[in-house]
Amino acid sequence: MLARDPHFFERLTEQQNPDYLWIGCSDSRVPANEIVDLLPGEIFVHRNVANVVHSSDMNCLSVLQYAVEVLGVRHVIVVGHYGCGGVKAALEEGGLSVIDHWLAPVRSIRRRNQNVFDQLPSAKARWDRLCELNVVEQAIAVSQTTIIRGSWAQKREIAVHGWIYDLHDGRLRDLDVTVTNAQEADELHDRSTGAGGSQSR
Ligand code: CO
Repeated sequence: MLARDPHFFERLTEQQNPDYLWIGCSDSRVPANEIVDLLPGEIFVHRNVANVVHSSDMNCLSVLQYAVEVLGVRHVIVVGHYGCGGVKAALEEGGLSVIDHWLAPVRSIRRRNQNVFDQLPSAKARWDRLCELNVVEQAIAVSQTTIIRGSWAQKREIAVHGWIYDLHDGRLRDLDVTVTNAQEADELHDRSTGAGGSQSR
């Protein structure tokens, strides 16, 4: 790094100034900076198993609040990935371990859309679909937080996006659920809960 840019670390210690917050999976194959090719200092990151946004998760909410209100990020991106082990576990009924508690919202998506899943031709198709629906659901959860709603009320320009990463080809796909204000967020919320998952690849 120093060979390319002798002052890189001097600048980095002074401040971080990211435009993006990445909310992604803890999976070791899905590292934020490498996937979007951004340098340290350019993207703020929160990761957990299956990129879940629980409305009572102080960790995730603190990251979100700090990113939006202090760092002034303009884009919050929920990034799921195909082949997610957490999502796969949520395709089945769970046990009583901590991870089952954590994955309850993902399992709930599958249960709510069971008719959609029953029509899919293979276990792989069901897995892929739940990975996608989980991204949409968590992007909606972000857009319904008081942090984001409050930012929009104060006329801050901030967009919430849902992307999915494919381990097979290294590509990010936009699931086309971007919202930039409360009205769009509510429309996405209503569409998603009403249609039982209208998003497709
Ligand atoms: Co994962």
